[in-house]
Amino acid sequence: MNITRTWFSAIAAGALLALASLAPVHAADDVTYRGLGGQQGIKNIVATLIPLIKADPRIKESFVDTDMKNLAMRLEEQFCALTGGPCVYEGEDMNDVHRGLKVTNAQFNALAEDLQIAMERNGVPSHVQNKLVAKLAPMQRAIVTK
Ligand code: HEM
Repeated sequence: MNITRTWFSAIAAGALLALASLAPVHAADDVTYRGLGGQQGIKNIVATLIPLIKADPRIKESFVDTDMKNLAMRLEEQFCALTGGPCVYEGEDMNDVHRGLKVTNAQFNALAEDLQIAMERNGVPSHVQNKLVAKLAPMQRAIVTK
């Protein structure tokens, strides 16, 4: 009886420890994804962003030959994956896809600004907006070639 109880306690303690070690990691990991409103929130943000890009005189010229439906799908995947959501980015490498486009720092900032407007219009809190922009900032080196 005592041995059974000891075993039971050991298993229960083990299970609790395993849960405790998993839960905080998961919660901390997808906090930005959830802040964006999850899958549907990201879909809405990108749907707002695409027309802003197409109308922005600072960058619209670059996208005249672009399949914007594909771009939207890839941006959704990328934002989801970057913020800890359950997605895998399956698009092209950032260096490869922007090579030859001669993107400037000003243009990079213009797109980041449009993204912030899109997030604002979808009610994303500014601290969450900043988190996504911070995740994209390291890509500047791959995207800007001019
Ligand atoms: C935060 C900045 C940016 C991010 C995260 C980003 C991300 C992406 C992604 C995910 C794709 C799709 C890749 C694929 O189709 O597999 C893409 C394509 C593209 N990006 Fe960017 N981009 C950024 C900035 C810019 C800027 C500033 C420009 C130009 C002004 C630009 C021009 C393009 C064009 C023209 C394509 C389509 C290329 C093609 O279809 O051949 N991007 N970008």
